[in-house]
Parts: sequence; structure tokens; C-alpha cells
Amino acid sequence: MNSSATLLLFGATGDLSKRMLFPSLYALHEDELIAADVRIVGTARSELDDQEFRDMAASALELYLPEDRQSKDMISSFLKRLSYQQLDASSTEGFSDLANKIGDISGGLAIFLSTAPSLFEATIAGLKSAGLTGENVRIGLEKPLGNDLQSSNAINNAVAEAFPEDRIFRIDHYLGKETVQNLMALRFANMMFEPLWNSNGIDHIEITVSETVGLEGRHGFYEKTGALRDMVQNHILQLVGLIAMEPPANLDATSVRDEKVKVLRSLRPVIAENVVRGQYGDGAVKGEAVSSYQENLGESSETETFVALKVFVDNWRWQGVPFYVRTGKRLAERRSEIVVQFKSVPHNIFAGGGTKLNANRLVIRLQPEEYVRLQVMAKEPGLDRDGIVLREVPLDLSLTQAFSKTRKRIAYERLLIDLIEGDPTLFVRRDEVEAQWHWIDAIRDVWEKNDIGVKSYGSGSWGPSAAIALTERDGVSWND
Ligand code: BG6
Repeated sequence: MNSSATLLLFGATGDLSKRMLFPSLYALHEDELIAADVRIVGTARSELDDQEFRDMAASALELYLPEDRQSKDMISSFLKRLSYQQLDASSTEGFSDLANKIGDISGGLAIFLSTAPSLFEATIAGLKSAGLTGENVRIGLEKPLGNDLQSSNAINNAVAEAFPEDRIFRIDHYLGKETVQNLMALRFANMMFEPLWNSNGIDHIEITVSETVGLEGRHGFYEKTGALRDMVQNHILQLVGLIAMEPPANLDATSVRDEKVKVLRSLRPVIAENVVRGQYGDGAVKGEAVSSYQENLGESSETETFVALKVFVDNWRWQGVPFYVRTGKRLAERRSEIVVQFKSVPHNIFAGGGTKLNANRLVIRLQPEEYVRLQVMAKEPGLDRDGIVLREVPLDLSLTQAFSKTRKRIAYERLLIDLIEGDPTLFVRRDEVEAQWHWIDAIRDVWEKNDIGVKSYGSGSWGPSAAIALTERDGVSWND
């Protein structure tokens, strides 16, 4: 597929645009990664002219770009790419003005849709009516793409009316994170892990995506969504897919996505005992007192801000290996991490010295720090008169240090350039989304049937005690 000469941003005045898209596009501009003639057209409901839109983008850059990258000349040359067309996407009327503003699309058009999902269908109809869905147009869709399998299918069907699957780019921004892509490098560019990467070598896996933030003004959205659908349905399941998939034959989009979807389809339905839902109460985060979810919301609620699950992948490779996953808001720390706990050696020849051998543990920290750490047993220095003493020490690979000369890019830089250039590898295919929702809907059925309510946890903690019990009853502790 060819590179697009125009990028059309829906929801261009929204929070995502300001915090992520403008800084990312600016970075691509700064590094000359997009051609000099690529134009960026913004559209949203607000009445703005081109200059006002550029001013808005400039203020966003001032706020969200690190100071050392704020060059006046560079920003003003970036802003020249920008123009704006006001549009009410709920009716088809304004779309012909939008098409006029965009002008010639023979050089290719990439559309990025980050509007409320309730506007998706109308937007697609509008694009179609204005001739903005032709062969050289592709569309990127930002989450949330529905709230369950049925609503996600409705959106996917509507988009499929106008775009074939190979021109639909569903965004899961976790796939754009450098460290997440590094999972594939770690597994498939190194010989040492793969032979052990199965139920013979691995005891269990933990995935933690914890945040310290609370609602952040997203009341309406979050109350209808909750942690399971906001984080597990997409980001965490994509991580499970990358950790558990078979080695793809190639790095192309089809090979990688074929392997991920097999994992997603092998997820065992979760039983009631293996689900914990929580909601944050009062507490303190980073030394500051914070109030409860319900106080933030201003009403009582049964929405979970935390979820922990014990998950199994039912295939040969992973039989009997639990994946403990948890995610939540207002937790003790911001941390995204995968812990691979290997099995113990079959026989301890050091037992005479009183040494208990800890099994190897691979910790892959995705954020905020970026490192891969393998815990190994090593001998403590000494003459060992009373027997050899061993201690667990880390084999440490700090990615931040190893690649200290490379600027850390935000996920959207990668995703936007892939959208502009038409590389779908890091986007989610429809069958993956369907498998994800299918499994998530079944969890919600389980908690409805079994009346699994939310358990309160103190803000600044690691979630409800039931989440600790979930692993401890198997003799496992979270890596806190
Ligand atoms: C989004 C969720 O998809 O991911 C947010 O809607 C969450 O609730 C965010 O805060 C976390 O992303 P990151 O990149 O900060 O880990």
C-alpha cells in the first residue's frame, strides 16, 4: 500500500489529539519521517478557522512537548501542514465541505477516527456519501470500539460497508509501545527462552498494568466501561497474545495476527472463583490524600476500577500454566510489567549449605522504567567453610541505558506513521477483536450470574485483598 499524502483527523480538538497526536505528528515532522508535502486536516464540531486550529495545536505542543524540543521555527513549519474544517459528523450534510477542504485525494488519504463510538456509523456514512472511502483511503479507529461483542460487531459491520478489512486499522496503543514490540524480539531473536517457554519450563505468568490516576474527568465513559472492558479486553489481551503465541513464520501483519488470534481463541472461559473486582475507596497516592471513586463520580456505583483474573490458555504449549492478570486505577504505583516465573530445578545439590533455590524469574518492565531482568542464583563470595551459600541476583538489561542515545518515542508516533504508510502489523484485526469480546462477555455473564460485586480497596494499595488471595491460594505472590 502506498503512503498517504493527507491525514484527516476526526476529533481533532479532543484530549487525545492534544496530548498524543499533535506531539507525535510533530516528532515525525521534526525527524523528517513524513514527506514534506503531507497535509494534516483536522475536523471536529467546534467552530474554528485554520488559524485558530493551528493556535490550538501550538498551545498543545507547548504544554505536552518537552521543553528542549520546543523549537519556534520547527513548530511554525509543522503548523503549516495543518488546516481545519468544522463538521457535525452526526449528519451527512457537512461532509461535502470536508471533501472540498481536503481536495485531491489521488495521493492517498489516511483517516484517524477518535470520536465517540456513537458517531462511528454516521461518520462512515458521511465519508461514503462524500466519496472519501475510495481505494486509496484507509481508516484508523481508536478505541472504544463497542462495549460488548454485539456493539463491536455493529461498528465493525458499519465500517466494513465502506472499507475492506485490509484498509481498516484498529488501534490498540499498547502495540505501538517500544517495549511491547520488544516482547517479540526477546522471544524470537534469542535462542535461550523459547525452549523453556511452555508448561515444561514455566510455572506461571503475571501481568500487572497498574495506574495511580483515578477518573481524570472521564466519568461518563468510565462508569459505563470499567476496568475489564477498558484495559483487559484490549491491552492486556494483546499482551497475553504476544507472550503466548507460537513463533510466527514472518513479521508480516498476517503471520503475526494469525498467531495472536489462535491464542485469543484458546482462552478458557473464566470461572467465578478466578475473578476479583474492586473499586477504589479513599486513601493516599504518592503522598496525597485522594477520595473514593464514588465521591469522584458523585453517585453510588458498581463499576470496577480494578480487576484481577486467573486465566488459562487451553492449548498444548500452555496447559496448566496460570496467567494471573490484574489492572486498576489508584493503585500503589504506575507499572506495566510481565513476570515469567520459571519452574524450579529438579534437584537442589546446594541444600547442604541450607540454601533454598529460588526458581528463575524473568521480569519484563514495560513502563515507566524499561528493562528486562532475569533473576538467577549465584554463589556468595567466600570460602564456604559451612557450605556454599547462594543468593538470587539480577541479570539486568536496562533498555533505557542500553539505548540511551535513542529518544523514547510515544506509541502514537509509530502508529501514526504506520497508518500513513499503510503497514497494518501493529493494528488489531477483526477476528482478534471478536475473540477478545467473546471471552470478555463471558466473564461479565459469570459475574452477573454469580453476583460478583466490587470490593472496596484503599487508594494507594495493590487492590482488594481478594486479589492477593487469588494468587496466594496457589502459593504464588504478586511481584510487589
Ligand atoms: C487507555 C485507557 O486505553 O489506556 C485508560 O482507556 C488508561 O483508562 C490508558 O489510563 C493507559 O495507557 P498508558 O499508555 O498510560 O499505560
